[in-house]
Amino acid sequence: MSTSEHGEKVKLHIDPTERGWIRAAILVLVVFAISVTIAGFMLGIQVPTEEQRVDPRTIENELPWSDPGVREIVAGEKYDVYLLAKMWFFDPNTVPEPDATVEIPAGAEVTFYVTSVDVQHGFKIQGTNVNFMAVPGEVSKLTTVFNEPGSYDYICTEFCGTGHASMYGTVNITE
Ligand code: CUA
Repeated sequence: MSTSEHGEKVKLHIDPTERGWIRAAILVLVVFAISVTIAGFMLGIQVPTEEQRVDPRTIENELPWSDPGVREIVAGEKYDVYLLAKMWFFDPNTVPEPDATVEIPAGAEVTFYVTSVDVQHGFKIQGTNVNFMAVPGEVSKLTTVFNEPGSYDYICTEFCGTGHASMYGTVNITE
């Protein structure tokens, strides 16, 4: 409502078609807001955080990256995994590494720290919420819970050169 120069109330005219599109636009925004809320809080989808800045030229000489793999933080409950993406493999390509003494049981909270030593790679674990880029110079971090025991494959999702298709590995989860 607005007031005319004679002081009487006039109704703001909006074409019915325009009104319809305005309603549709508002509805879409509401649907997006609800979807994002469900994804964030109920499905556990997280935005990968940039955990730390590193120097990709020297990272392999410094712990923990000079010895990537699984770290047991709380037995049966909490594990950290450090992974290096390189042209064209993941180090390690089996988690836990074949010579590791730890196992990761189903239901444990597993945090992945991934970075690249050369070009941009991707890191996606099939069947989980873990899916982010591995960028040289920064460490990406994401936490997930494997509820079922079994083998979970991870792959590089960013085209990174001739060996891209050979960049994969497996996370093995025990009972
Ligand atoms: Cu690494 Cu594609």
